[in-house]
Amino acid sequence: MPTFTQEQATQYDSRILRLVPGYELLHQLTATQLQATLADNAHILVVGAGSGKEIIELAKINPRWQFTAQDTSRDMLDIASSKFAEQGISNRVTLHYGALEKLKHKADAALCLLVLHFVEDNGDKKQVLKSIKNNLNKDATLYLADLMRPETQFERDAQLLACAQLGLGEAGQQHMRNQLENEFYPLDRMRFSELLHECGFSSPPKLYFKALGFSGYVI
Ligand SMILES: C[S@@+](CC[C@H](N)C(=O)[O-])C[C@H]1O[C@@H](n2cnc3c(N)ncnc32)[C@H](O)[C@@H]1O
Repeated sequence: MPTFTQEQATQYDSRILRLVPGYELLHQLTATQLQATLADNAHILVVGAGSGKEIIELAKINPRWQFTAQDTSRDMLDIASSKFAEQGISNRVTLHYGALEKLKHKADAALCLLVLHFVEDNGDKKQVLKSIKNNLNKDATLYLADLMRPETQFERDAQLLACAQLGLGEAGQQHMRNQLENEFYPLDRMRFSELLHECGFSSPPKLYFKALGFSGYVI
């Protein structure tokens, strides 16, 4: 599994655009739903905040929203923190390095974009989802995007072709193929729904984004 440290962190912003078809659209569609639903005083929890993409975009949409940025990679969170300072939004963001613990204020929405497929379904995925649930207000919504199990035999091949069209070189494609086969923990839709239910998310996940293996759900 990628470590998201050192050059994996510094090169993340340019690499991710070649690895996830529709990356920008996924973020845009997530943001518009938050814009349509959240009040001005909302607090948004971003799990696996990475280099800060979600928060930087959302902070522009509403200058009053507050954020918690959580990640298990200090290098990624350091990059995010520098960007928040550049954007003048550090005072609106609480940084949280490491496993998610109880937040001081329960969040009105949570984002977990392109994170859970790195977490094994051996109790670890459940722990992440339960921690998210514990940090949400009663009516809060979770936006979760993940690589899912392929639904056709040709989906992963098509995905690698899409990455090539996005500029991923030969070595990168081989690396990605290996990662897709061996380093991710994708769920099928049934297991995903079951896990959410086990973690206290009672309404079924609704699909709002689909780009080959990557699916985005509102829960
Ligand atoms: C592919 S990046 C996604 C970053 C950001 N959400 C985005 O859309 O650009 C995955 C991030 O999840 C983080 N991560 C991996 N496992 C995690 C976990 N169990 N809890 C929180 N963050 C985790 C990684 O360190 C990395 O920053």
